[in-house]
Amino acid sequence: MPDPIPTTAPAAAKPRSNFNNWISAIGGVIAAGGLFSFFFLAWMDLVKGDKNPYLGIFTYIVAPGFLIAGLVMVFFGAWAQRRWEIKHAAMPDKWRLDFSNRQQRQRLVAFGAGAALFIGLSAFGSFQTFHYAESTQFCGQVCHTAMNPEFVTYQRGAHARVACVECHVGSGAEHFIKAKINGTHQLIATILDNYNRPIDTPVKNLRPAQDTCEKCHWPEKFAGNIQVDYEHFLSDKKNTSYTARMLLHVNKSSPGSPLGGIHWHVNTTERVEYYAIDEKRQDIPWMRVTNVKTGVAKVFRVDSFKGEPPADRIRVMDCIDCHNRPSHVFPTANDAVEKSLAAGVLSTKLPNIKRVAVQAMTQKEITSEAGAAQKIADFMRAKYTDPALGAEVPGAIAEVQKIFAVSIFPDRKADWRVYPNNIGHKDWPGCFRCHDDKHKTATNEKVRSSDCNSCHVIIAQGKGAELETLSAKGLKFKHPDGEPDAELSCSDCHNGGIQK
Ligand code: HEC
Ligand code: HEC
Ligand code: HEC
Ligand code: HEC
Ligand code: HEC
Ligand code: HEC
Repeated sequence: MPDPIPTTAPAAAKPRSNFNNWISAIGGVIAAGGLFSFFFLAWMDLVKGDKNPYLGIFTYIVAPGFLIAGLVMVFFGAWAQRRWEIKHAAMPDKWRLDFSNRQQRQRLVAFGAGAALFIGLSAFGSFQTFHYAESTQFCGQVCHTAMNPEFVTYQRGAHARVACVECHVGSGAEHFIKAKINGTHQLIATILDNYNRPIDTPVKNLRPAQDTCEKCHWPEKFAGNIQVDYEHFLSDKKNTSYTARMLLHVNKSSPGSPLGGIHWHVNTTERVEYYAIDEKRQDIPWMRVTNVKTGVAKVFRVDSFKGEPPADRIRVMDCIDCHNRPSHVFPTANDAVEKSLAAGVLSTKLPNIKRVAVQAMTQKEITSEAGAAQKIADFMRAKYTDPALGAEVPGAIAEVQKIFAVSIFPDRKADWRVYPNNIGHKDWPGCFRCHDDKHKTATNEKVRSSDCNSCHVIIAQGKGAELETLSAKGLKFKHPDGEPDAELSCSDCHNGGIQK
């Protein structure tokens, strides 16, 4: 068998490169598109900084992905061509890019124009895609219809202008991927219609609050006291109003010194850790305060808890342990009705309206969103048969139906009864999970700040003129229903519904 003779091409022509083929050319364009997108997005990332959680993934994952895929194609083209050459003892002519051929030249011009367009569009397209994927619309409506209750409550909260991803994803590619893997599970569950109702809380893989909340609120900025008026109405015939005006000590320290008061828990010199027995973190038998510099630790526990908590269940306290409902507040039926009464929308002229409205919303008969409005109307009409009240009734019914629609979601079994709010101590244990006088150190030291004036002072309470005389020293709380048994915690009686 004669040796393969070198090609008979004219001596002047350079040997054709293995890269000279259409597969490699297309690969080259894709790689260029990836590279261009990368530079474009990296520039965006630098300019926009941390603000955009989804930018990272497109910049550092998707764009380089295209670059690599393109390069692989370039080399695959060369390799395939070489194989062909070895097998057939000649270059595959069909694959060749030949500038001297008129037809090929036209094809190349069209190809070049297409390539330029592709490169431009890939940058623009990737920019638009991540923009959409991070939008509140995408999270709350398109993808996550199962999350309707969170979306509705979110829109009424203080963070209605903060995108979902600011708290749920944060910046950086790693967290984006985690969130999307998690999201894929959720998507499948939504399609199969077997997601949990209610959706579990707390969110286990929520990012540490330092990475999310502290982007906008940082502990040094907490002011001394904030004043809040808690407006209530008793469930008596006259719907007697009762208000507590309070100063909450969000930061009791002097300017420049370490945090004191309520935000002491997130100071930088001490770390608070705790162990909760239950998934919802409501039952806390053990906690530890460690001085970060000296390492000296103080352990508090309740008498009934003898052992040591499992190490992987110990949680470092951060913003979310108190502000677990910064965005999706499911108000109690009691609070939602009182808010409407205080705003004057629901008329206090209707006898017992506080009680009737709360009962109408919490009827056992309501098991789904469909038909709920009708049941509320029937319930309320049956209570107000006196024709003298006629004019007030339809408005009140409409208002209660409205309150119900934005706070109780039977289809997903989502309302305040499954989503506790840890910020106070009236309707849920909240602060009293730890500040209850039952947690002690080995030397019998109790948790400091567990008396009524350490977290807040009541500067006025009652109704009407009583609310205009302020006490700087603070008043003893006058419970509207008589002094309750000191052994009882507020949430032993108060549960967001009707007490009696
Ligand atoms: C200000 C921060 C913030 C924003 C903005 C935010 N969330 Fe949340 N979200 C939270 C926190 C905190 C939790 C409760 C986490 C916990 O208890 O561990 C939560 C919980 C959830 C849950 C779990 C169920 C529940 O109610 O506990 C879902 C679902 C959810 N959010 C969806 C959304 C959607 C959809 C958006 C945008 C429309 C959004 N979130 C916007 C902070 C936020
Ligand atoms: C993107 C910025 C941003 C992020 C992230 C953010 N917040 Fe806010 N937060 C705001 C703005 C804006 C307000 C409204 C301020 C106002 O009304 O004066 C606010 C208000 C609040 C308030 C006062 C609420 C009220 O009802 O008046 C609390 C408490 C709060 N945020 C806690 C949190 C917590 C906890 C997180 C993390 C889970 C968080 N925020 C994340 C911007 C943010
Ligand atoms: C020990 C519980 C607790 C922790 C931990 C906590 N907070 Fe608060 N925070 C409160 C309480 C209580 C208030 C008073 C407002 C209220 O009752 O709704 C408050 C008020 C606020 C306010 C509004 C008050 C103001 O000064 O404008 C913001 C914003 C806030 N917290 C953010 C945060 C952030 C961010 C973190 C984490 C770094 C954090 N909080 C940690 C309990 C806590
Ligand atoms: C996980 C347990 C835990 C929870 C929940 C908790 N705390 Fe604390 N808190 C502590 C511990 C521990 C200390 C320090 C106790 C000590 O060293 O004596 C403390 C101290 C304080 C102090 C004193 C700070 C200072 O300046 O000395 C205040 C005020 C306070 N907490 C308010 C609150 C409020 C308000 C809430 C609810 C919104 C709350 N805490 C929820 C564990 C908790
Ligand atoms: C560990 C801190 C802490 C202690 C101790 C404490 N409180 Fe509170 N209290 C709070 C916080 C925080 C709120 C605000 C809750 C909110 O914003 O929803 C609150 C709210 C209240 C309210 C208004 C609740 C409402 O919805 O109308 C009353 C009344 C009240 N506390 C009374 C008391 C009394 C009485 C004691 C003593 C038995 C006490 N508190 C002890 C932290 C504390
Ligand atoms: C023994 C049960 C019991 C205990 C314990 C208790 N309450 Fe009440 N509370 C009631 C009853 C009953 C009413 C009257 C309810 C009504 O008229 O709607 C009431 C009314 C109130 C009201 C005004 C109406 C409303 O529904 O909000 C406030 C505020 C209140 N309590 C706060 C507290 C606080 C704070 C604590 C803990 C320090 C506490 N209560 C402990 C039973 C209790």
